[in-house]
Amino acid sequence: MMPHGFAGILGTGRAVPERVLTNADLEKMVDTSDEWIVTRTGIKERRIASPEEAASDLGYQAALKALEASKVKASELDLIIVATITGDMPFPATACIIQGRLGATKAAAFDLAAGCSGWVYSLEVAQSMVKAGYQRVLVIGVDVLSKITDYTDRSTCVLFGDGAGAAVLGPVKEGYGVLASDLGADGLGADYLKLPVGGSRCPSQTVAIDDPGRYLKMSGNEVFKFAVRAMGDSTQRVLEKANLTGEDISWFIPHQANIRIIKSAASRFNIPEDRIYINVDRYGNTSAASIPIALDEVVETGKVQDGDLILVVGFGAGLTWGSAILRWGGVE
Ligand code: ACO
Repeated sequence: MMPHGFAGILGTGRAVPERVLTNADLEKMVDTSDEWIVTRTGIKERRIASPEEAASDLGYQAALKALEASKVKASELDLIIVATITGDMPFPATACIIQGRLGATKAAAFDLAAGCSGWVYSLEVAQSMVKAGYQRVLVIGVDVLSKITDYTDRSTCVLFGDGAGAAVLGPVKEGYGVLASDLGADGLGADYLKLPVGGSRCPSQTVAIDDPGRYLKMSGNEVFKFAVRAMGDSTQRVLEKANLTGEDISWFIPHQANIRIIKSAASRFNIPEDRIYINVDRYGNTSAASIPIALDEVVETGKVQDGDLILVVGFGAGLTWGSAILRWGGVE
């Protein structure tokens, strides 16, 4: 394996379920209103997986598109990383299931759990592996939070949607690819966002079928305060590491959890509104999938030029945060 100086994205893809759940639908399910959801979160609708659809199904579809866009064959992949907290099963890794389905026989495969920051964490691992000599690394962010959401709890069920986004990384020309990154965690906030049942602390066999701990639990206010701080601080650090300012950034692609969190983070850095990518209105919070879905949509618009600087930043369960700046293009 030949080490390489610069690692970047060769192509992207995304996949979302067909079913749309609108705010009007939710008004019929819980005591909420379109007005409350839009003003507090910016979300108008989200995609919901079918009962048969699992993380590997969406991840696989997104992977096929990313491979096609990057002109890489599955058989050429050296590594597959899947960022998820809602894998098909606790084990085997969803990355292994996708590896088998793709026929990526040469690829090592593992999952990475960092909540909604998972894809940014995976991007950092992937670029380090490319620099260490791996030639082709597939990074998928996929979550199917609808499967662990309590649709009688209005404080959480309006927020989440399902989806997958993917990117293939490889060596790129000097000065391109991931230029700087910033990852971190505050485990003292682990209780603020969690799925209490189903792990070794509280195995699902030990609780009743209707135990509320089978569903995602969140202290929304605590997560909100953390998110505003973490997104802003991480953006600040990654800009400093890359020796750049907000004005240099062509596309600011934040985790799509809540429009208020996005705007408050962006306002610290004089990033013009037309450079902030927002799709939370159409997908809600798709957790680890949100940044790669947004990235793929921006790329699809054709508005990303070779040499553009893209800043991605996310926060999530853990609590975790992560950001990265990449120079787009430079594919060898
Ligand atoms: N419809 C109507 N009213 C609601 C709803 C709803 N869907 N949800 C909550 N309310 C009520 C509350 O009960 C409360 O009423 P009360 O004052 O009578 O008690 C009132 O609205 C205000 O509630 P707050 O929680 O203070 O509302 P807030 O403005 O903080 O918004 C929200 C809540 C949207 C959840 C916000 O806190 C938030 O976005 N937090 C961050 C969540 C997040 O991003 N999580 C994802 C992390 S990523 C991951 O790893 C999965």
